[in-house]
This record gives sequence, C-alpha cells and structure tokens, in this order.
Amino acid sequence: MNRLKGKVAIVTGAADGIGLAISQAFANEGALVVMCDINVDKCDEEAKRLNDNVGTARSYACDVGITKDVKNVVDRTLAEFGKIDILVNNAGIALSGNIVEMPEEDWDRLMNINLKSAYRSIQIVLPHMLGKQSGSIINISSIQAFRSWDNWTAYAGAKGAMCSMTKQLAGQFGVENIRFNTISPGAILTPMNEKRIQEEGKAFLQKSIDQAAMKRLGKPQEVAMTAVFLASDEAPFITGADIKVDGGLGVLPRYL
Ligand SMILES: NC(=O)c1ccc[n+]([C@@H]2O[C@H](COP(=O)([O-])OP(=O)(O)OC[C@H]3O[C@@H](n4cnc5c(N)ncnc54)[C@H](O)[C@@H]3O)[C@@H](O)[C@H]2O)c1
Repeated sequence: MNRLKGKVAIVTGAADGIGLAISQAFANEGALVVMCDINVDKCDEEAKRLNDNVGTARSYACDVGITKDVKNVVDRTLAEFGKIDILVNNAGIALSGNIVEMPEEDWDRLMNINLKSAYRSIQIVLPHMLGKQSGSIINISSIQAFRSWDNWTAYAGAKGAMCSMTKQLAGQFGVENIRFNTISPGAILTPMNEKRIQEEGKAFLQKSIDQAAMKRLGKPQEVAMTAVFLASDEAPFITGADIKVDGGLGVLPRYL
C-alpha cells in the first residue's frame, strides 16, 4: 500500500487486460490514475469501480493512434492534477500475418497503434517530466521481441523497436532523472488471447504453456506488480532495463 502515494499516472489501453490490472494495482498503491482507452464504456465502468473502492481514477476516451486524442489526455491530466509522474504505454493490438501476404494497411495499422503511439505520448509527456526533473516511463513490449514465432513479424518488429527506443531514451534522459524501462510479458491470459482462442482455437496457447519453464499462462496482475515496482521509488536507479514477465518462455528452446 502507498508505494505510489500522490503520484499521477497515465495508463493507455486501461479498460481491459494488462492495462486494467496496472491501473488497479497503481490505484491500490495510492496513485491517481488516468485510464485511457478506445473502449469508453468499459473504461468508464472500471474507473468508477476504482473510484468507489480504492481511490482516484479518471476515464478518458483516447485512441493512441490519434495525436489529438493523446494531447487531449495530457492536457486534461495537467489541468486536473497539475503533473504527470508515470506514463505506461500499454495499448496494443495483436495482428499476425505471413510477411509475404500481409497487406500494407495491416502493417501500418499495427505500427501506428503498437509503436508510433509511444512516440506520440512520449513527445507530449516528456517536456512536463523534464520541467520537474522526474518521471518514470514504462513501455510494454513482449517476449516476441526476443524470440521467433511464425507469422508475427510486424508485431515482433514493433515490440523490438519499443525496447530499442526505450534504451535510447534511457541513455539520453537519465541525467534529467527520467527513467525509461520496458516490461516484456510472455503469454498472459487477457481478452487479447481470449480473442485469439476464438479465432484460432486453443492450440497456440498450449504451445506457449509447454514452452514456458513454469508451464502455465501468466496473469495480468503478475505484469502489473512489475509495473508498480518500476514506477515506484523502489526503482530509483533502474533505467534502460527490460524485465521479462514470462514464466521462463524466453529461456527454453522454441519448439520442444
Ligand atoms: N496478452 C499477452 O499475452 C501479451 C504478451 C506480450 C505483450 N502483450 C502486450 O501487452 C499490452 C496489453 O495487452 P493485453 O493482452 O492486455 O490486450 P487486450 O486486448 O486484452 O487489452 C488491450 C486494451 O487496449 C485497448 N486498445 C486497443 N487499441 C487501442 C487504441 N488504439 N487506443 C487506446 N486503447 C486501445 C483495448 O480496448 C483494450 O482495453 C499490449 O501492448 C500487448 O501487445 C500482451
């Protein structure tokens, strides 16, 4: 409790899955949480639940693929709370496809939501963090950035770029006391994977379980715990790091 007391956090993709778990964990630790999502009804509902039960949360409609939406979130957050201490770039979509067949529109859409979104939000939020010489920016990558999986070229490319971009920024802005880190989840049971089960069947998830050292899927809350740590004053000297929350999916050979 209170590990984030008084800190103001923006979390994207906060209506469901990992982003929702991060928002809940941040609120439980005393943060004022600005939850952003395109799914406005669900985001409103979840923010209300947090307000009723634990603390302060706001729900702002935002498509991270649209610059004016992101700017609106930052402006409203600063107008209401006066500062931004934590930014979590979590919103993302899962779009697979063999590179030979993948339509250019799919590639562009994925890059816009999963990668350019971080450029947008960091460009708008960073000047405020620089002004107060303090901030923690957490980018959600994926274990896909580190290992091969058939037909996930674009997704893995965006996630790998997220890690590289984070390291570059950590190097440049460490002297200003702004920390940049990535979390790379393995296979986590969220609506993203539930949708894939409906489309592709359960076999792909069983493969992820078989290939993970811990032989199970992760929970969104297990990713959220790491986000709390990185956002908190318990990690004041950690920047440019990638923390894999993957149950050992990254350490075993690809196909057993
Ligand atoms: N679930 C996994 O196994 C897994 C593994 C590795 C990485 N990740 C990454 O974690 C992040 C969250 O994944 P998840 O599994 O919780 O996904 P999810 O689909 O369960 O939830 C994503 C949330 O983001 C929102 N969202 C989607 N597009 C948006 C947009 N353009 N603007 C704003 N909000 C938007 C959705 O409405 C939803 O509430 C993603 O970046 C994903 O790539 C997930």
